[in-house]
Amino acid sequence: MSKPKLLITRRWPKAVEEAASEDFDVTLNEKDRPLSSEDMRNALTSYDAISPTVTDILNTKTFEVENVRCKILCNYGVGYSHIDLTSAQKLGICVTNTPDVLSDCTADIAMTLMLMAARRAGEGERELRADEWQGWRPTHMIGSKVTGKTLGIVGFGRIGQAMASRAHFGFGMKINIFSRSQVSSEILEKYNAKQFGSVETLLNESDFVSLHCPGGTSNRHLINASNLSYAKPDLILINTARGEVIDETALANALKNKVIKAAGLDVFDGEPKINPILMAAPNLVMLPHLGSATRETREAMGFRALENCKAFFNEEPPLDRVA
Ligand code: DGY
Repeated sequence: MSKPKLLITRRWPKAVEEAASEDFDVTLNEKDRPLSSEDMRNALTSYDAISPTVTDILNTKTFEVENVRCKILCNYGVGYSHIDLTSAQKLGICVTNTPDVLSDCTADIAMTLMLMAARRAGEGERELRADEWQGWRPTHMIGSKVTGKTLGIVGFGRIGQAMASRAHFGFGMKINIFSRSQVSSEILEKYNAKQFGSVETLLNESDFVSLHCPGGTSNRHLINASNLSYAKPDLILINTARGEVIDETALANALKNKVIKAAGLDVFDGEPKINPILMAAPNLVMLPHLGSATRETREAMGFRALENCKAFFNEEPPLDRVA
């Protein structure tokens, strides 16, 4: 029997690309450039399976194709807000993602940003490299203490909980949560956490807020000018979820007008383009979407995507089916 034709839309770590070709007739994107909408439409009619990533746009328009051959989109990544699930379902395409394997590394990057923003690490490094450091002094580059403060977490799935674990057990932080679903009392007790009913209260009662909810239309601008006005002036906001969760103009204005103290972002609305208003914002640390970027995790994501795809073609239920 011939192997299913699989398109992997961006280059993967070598070990997983090699493993992919054992079970699939693989096409790699040799130049590793994001696919256009047209490329993706052609792919839907030419491959049995596609493994897209966050850089691919699979919206309603993309799925307006005839003679679809693709039966599964085994997404390389946990977030799938770039895929219109309803359109995929209408065409009978199964969609899977890669949860679990990136929770630790994404929480690690959120901690990195939190510490960098609080302790002014980016600014400090820039000063030193510009040869402008005038030496140690008691008033130099004073930041905010992290240990023992209160962290608000938006979205309390696997990554939110990994963040709570680091912050609570590692840094003695108190944990506040905003989540649309009720978090079980067992989990709340584990982190000695309090669940709040609104983003406004969470912003008002926390020293740090870290976003760990899905992106997409339902969470677009969940953090906006209106609820930022409830934040403590010392608030430090961290986003490793999806760029669209924050209204970036509102954030830049809040930083400029000292409504909040600082922010750390790993994700951006319309990335890799960065809104110029963010480039000009003070007290902002930015990373280029590095949440899951470790060798171990990027390999594990590839293996997980392949497992889902293999299960599907073996007529078994894929572990991480989302549609
Ligand atoms: C994820 O897994 O969702 C990462 O953000 C990369 O897409």
